[in-house]
Amino acid sequence: MQTFLHTSALQSQLKTWRSQGLRIGFVPTMGNLHEGHYALIKKAQATCHEVVVSIFVNPLQFGANEDFAGYPRTLKADLDGLAQMGVGAVFAPDEAEIYPRPVTDMSFVEVPGLSDMLCGASRPGHFRGVTTIVNKLFNIVQPDMAIFGLKDFQQFTIIKRMVSDLAMSVELVGMETIREADGLAMSSRNGYLGAAERQQAPLLYQTLQDLRDKIRQGEHDYFELELLGQEELENAGFRPDYVAIRRADNLDVPFADSPGLVILAAAWLGKTRLIDNIQL
Ligand code: PAF
Repeated sequence: MQTFLHTSALQSQLKTWRSQGLRIGFVPTMGNLHEGHYALIKKAQATCHEVVVSIFVNPLQFGANEDFAGYPRTLKADLDGLAQMGVGAVFAPDEAEIYPRPVTDMSFVEVPGLSDMLCGASRPGHFRGVTTIVNKLFNIVQPDMAIFGLKDFQQFTIIKRMVSDLAMSVELVGMETIREADGLAMSSRNGYLGAAERQQAPLLYQTLQDLRDKIRQGEHDYFELELLGQEELENAGFRPDYVAIRRADNLDVPFADSPGLVILAAAWLGKTRLIDNIQL
């Protein structure tokens, strides 16, 4: 496995692979890798000759009072894990490599509308940071396919919209959420949870499952169901940010007979903001 700190060196390796006709897969990450990331990599390896994994904690997608400084950085362990998986190339640039000029003075990519709702409403600028870095990484790697976890359902929806709007030539794959045995969606932020919070955390997924079951049983008053979900979360000790039932294709508010729904939730447990979703 080769680890690249600089764009130019990575691109020269990619040029060689492309000249050999190899199909290149890409898994963008912020590091602190867990089984969820490894599952993405395995899936990319199943359909690509070479897989590039990026590790970059992107300052642009963190708000001023968010956890950028404290975000877990575990490069050594990540590289060991990736080497064991037979990953061909890791791109681990520093901030100056990606943002050589002040970020306030840089071009950015924004998907309006979709980026302003749900997580975007409580994290202004977050998705602009995500689409800007993902676009830049796509430009650097120029992968044939890129894979993202569906735990970040809104993020995936926004990236799909960006790729379609800007006619970017990359195949996008969304992969189902990998969960702990008790149902908690795997996330680097789970490490922030204290022991008691870790016991409570699976109730987020349970709440989503309860709402899903009610919809399957024929309940269609989505507004009432959202309120019920928030109440369940509050009773379980969470501070809900939102519980929302949306159309899975465009995150619009659904009508009673809209097909293809997704139930999304974000909630705080102490100082940890957890998100999860379930598709119907
Ligand atoms: O999902 C993530 O880990 C990040 O948002 C991503 C896609 C790597 C962009 O920084």
